[in-house]
Amino acid sequence: MNKTAQTSISVPLLGVNIDHVATLRQARGVNYPDPVEAALLCEQAGADGITLHLREDRRHIIDEDVYRMKPLLKTRMNLEIATTDEMLKVATDVKPEWVCLVPEKRQELTTEGGLDVAGQIEHLKLYIASLHAAGVKVSLFIDPDSKQIDAAIACKADAVELHTGQYAEATLASDKDAIAYELERIVKTTEYALSVEKTLIVNAGHGLTRDNVGPIASIPGIYELNIGHALIADSVFMGLEKAVVAMKLAMQG
Ligand code: PXP
Repeated sequence: MNKTAQTSISVPLLGVNIDHVATLRQARGVNYPDPVEAALLCEQAGADGITLHLREDRRHIIDEDVYRMKPLLKTRMNLEIATTDEMLKVATDVKPEWVCLVPEKRQELTTEGGLDVAGQIEHLKLYIASLHAAGVKVSLFIDPDSKQIDAAIACKADAVELHTGQYAEATLASDKDAIAYELERIVKTTEYALSVEKTLIVNAGHGLTRDNVGPIASIPGIYELNIGHALIADSVFMGLEKAVVAMKLAMQG
């Protein structure tokens, strides 16, 4: 990711999260559909990057997917991991272009909240330094909160990804007040981040769909959106390549 490009691009880039192709595979314990094949199709359709989450319980993506995918990607890999020693080993071995550090709870259906960076600055400083030493850039998945931005900067993160889950829930509930409140939080946090650290990349994601992505995609300064579940769901009806194109169109408003 090149920060110079951020100021000249008005529509954010699209990172496609292909975890749920693997979810379908794991549901049967077979070897199809292949998330690597899906990632390559997404790239051909215009995805700007591929995101995948190697969870501790390997409920969708497995280690082999990460290793197989890395040399084949033409864009870049954004590997989501929890801040454990096991995951640090994988990340420093595979060397994706980006790692996104996320909180992880075994029982959750999906990543529920942002990482509490402010509550673990010393641990994260060391963790991020190890990734940097391996040539991997680091993003932190955080709630839209200026305190977490300050902490991310203190840890020397290269990027933050603002959690849009609460905004997405408000849109599903058609709760206009909550939508306005959550959007404002994301706008203000983006402005704050870019005002205090101009080199920090601000991404966003979680729960975004073709119906609710427009207002997030039009926030000035947001560099990339990571979108998975809704896009893979769209692909059931329209095919994966069309689903990527349709999401990119929706991002243009
Ligand atoms: N960003 C992060 C950090 C995530 O953990 C996830 C879910 O794995 C996403 C984006 C994508 O969210 P969704 O699947 O709801 O589009």
